[in-house]
Amino acid sequence: MSALIAPSLLAADFLHLEKDVRLINEHADLFHLDVMDGRFVPNISFGFPIVDAVHSMATKPLDVHLMIRHPQTYIERFCKAGASMLSFHLDATRDDPESILGIIMDQGVKPGLAINPNIPVEKLFPYLDLCDFVLIMSVFAGFGGQAFMEETYGRVERMKAEIVSRGLSTHIEVDGGVSPRNASRLISAGADILVAGSSVFRADDPAAAIAAMRG
Ligand code: DX5
Ligand code: ZN
Repeated sequence: MSALIAPSLLAADFLHLEKDVRLINEHADLFHLDVMDGRFVPNISFGFPIVDAVHSMATKPLDVHLMIRHPQTYIERFCKAGASMLSFHLDATRDDPESILGIIMDQGVKPGLAINPNIPVEKLFPYLDLCDFVLIMSVFAGFGGQAFMEETYGRVERMKAEIVSRGLSTHIEVDGGVSPRNASRLISAGADILVAGSSVFRADDPAAAIAAMRG
């Protein structure tokens, strides 16, 4: 069993972003881009100019993770900026998640729903057949470099069991504190995509860190 590795550019070197884009092109599977608005989460990261710039030289797909309120307002713009996968948080909107997932799909982009660690995974079950992937946070969204929460293994297992029992092909992405220390257990639990920021970009050998997480 193996997983796709999606390095999170939140931990990249923004003065030398081109170097880190090349690293992902060469060694990883997806670009993970964390968009934060200072409202849904207490932090602000980056928006369209960075997504555009990365897209202009990326040879791997862009996985854009929206941690913003009212995600529907910006979905079409992020799709046009080059997202191949686009996720938003279930509790970031009072609108019907189904219609937002539909808008993403209509743009030819893979839709995903994300949840923080305090939301039962069962809350995503009604939407699984509309999602290309679900994003299970293994830290509270908002900051890189936080400690992985151990209860994530059980959450991934419960989600995987539901997906399998319904014969769905929804992928499971895990995000936050992922490293070579917990990757293989996450893959065994059912994770298909691993997001990793600090453990890639703070490593002495980022390419080796990516290879060590693949499984
Ligand atoms: C957290 C972000 C994560 C974060 C991961 O809100 O969604 O993608 O960048 O960073 P690490 O791997 O350092 O926890
Ligand atoms: Zn993320």
